[in-house]
Amino acid sequence: MADWNLSPNLALNQEVAGRRAAGEDIVHLGFGEARLPAFGPLAERLTAGARRNAYGPVAGGADVREAVAGYFTRRRLPTHPDQVVTAPGSKPLLMAVNHAVPGDVLLPRPCWNTYAPQAVLAGKRAFGVPIPAECGGVPDPAALRETLLATRRQGHDPRTVVITLPDNPTGTLAPPRLVREICALAEEEDLLIVSDEIYRDIVHDPGTPVLSPAEVAPHRTVVTNGLSKTLALGGWRIGVARFPEGPWGDRIRTAVLSVASEVWSTLAGPMQEVAAYAFAEPPAVRARLAACRRLHGAVARDVHRIVVAAGASCRPPTGGFYVYPDFGPCRDRLAAAGVRDSPSLQRHLLDAFGVMVLAGHHLGDDERALRFKAATSMLYGDTAEQQEEALAAADPLRVPHVSAVLERLEETFAKLTAR
Ligand SMILES: Cc1ncc(COP(=O)(O)O)c(C=O)c1O
Repeated sequence: MADWNLSPNLALNQEVAGRRAAGEDIVHLGFGEARLPAFGPLAERLTAGARRNAYGPVAGGADVREAVAGYFTRRRLPTHPDQVVTAPGSKPLLMAVNHAVPGDVLLPRPCWNTYAPQAVLAGKRAFGVPIPAECGGVPDPAALRETLLATRRQGHDPRTVVITLPDNPTGTLAPPRLVREICALAEEEDLLIVSDEIYRDIVHDPGTPVLSPAEVAPHRTVVTNGLSKTLALGGWRIGVARFPEGPWGDRIRTAVLSVASEVWSTLAGPMQEVAAYAFAEPPAVRARLAACRRLHGAVARDVHRIVVAAGASCRPPTGGFYVYPDFGPCRDRLAAAGVRDSPSLQRHLLDAFGVMVLAGHHLGDDERALRFKAATSMLYGDTAEQQEEALAAADPLRVPHVSAVLERLEETFAKLTAR
């Protein structure tokens, strides 16, 4: 590793906190957090779990693994509790999979900023493969084949492909057709698929079909998920993984448990209590998820409208809480303000307009492109009351504090690209 840097999104988050403390008024779209309060019944489970203070089993207790197995089974992925491992977040599980599986890693480009550094920390190479025009989260299948062949010719050994359903950073969900194509290629080339489904329950339109590669290629797909995004519990650190049935899955799971036992030992007891409740999906949790999904969808669609009106091209968001605009069509106008690449675009938005975004090069994208990620979930308000108000509203775009910040963004992007 050449550098030891904080992950760019966490570094930006700290920069914003510092600037705000110094009195700057910043619209922060640079951090992928579901800015919503912890749901009351979850906080009650946390308190109820306070006395779970013993070290539990490394994979998690039987109650939580059963609940998680039920969660997957209800999503057409029949699962035995022994296939489930819980952890303090899905990040450590993804890292443990990197350690457990040999070979290099293929990633969609752009993708979440942690996949590539994790692969490098595990001594691997990570290769970005362009995403298709219609969505992110999966490599374009033809480009994936080309990259596989090219990297093998160069002596590399790609054995894993990571996909994100729905995607961070594009806020889109790959359609079943593309998932099947990736699975077919993985079968042909004997790749492990790591399917990061942490945004799975935030598909905006509940009628949209979600196909997990674990349904198509069950023996070669590891699925990760968690409660950080769907239930806005990032700081509680609850992640889960589902390993394939069969000898390959058993080997990977055993290796992941070995890493887990040496690094984090077990998911914190009180969090297991929360996870057992949440993954069982009682009606209160389902209703909360539905409200979150509505809010994320409404605000992401409005920010999409704003950036497109300003001249950007942008895939319409269908899941999660991000948009990933491309201001390439406005390149000449932006050049007049000294904006020529994604770092200068990020800097200009912050310095001239007080809007923080995460530039595309942090996500593996071409630095010369004028693309960035905007986390639209940061627009629901600064206090728990404001956020609950946005969540409860029939039309969140009409809630005064939400409409005010959206108006500020509309003005910002209109000015950014004004002739
Ligand atoms: C695609 C993706 N996967 C995983 C994570 C990490 O989640 P966790 O909080 O479970 O470690 C994030 C969080 O930003 C994410 O965007």
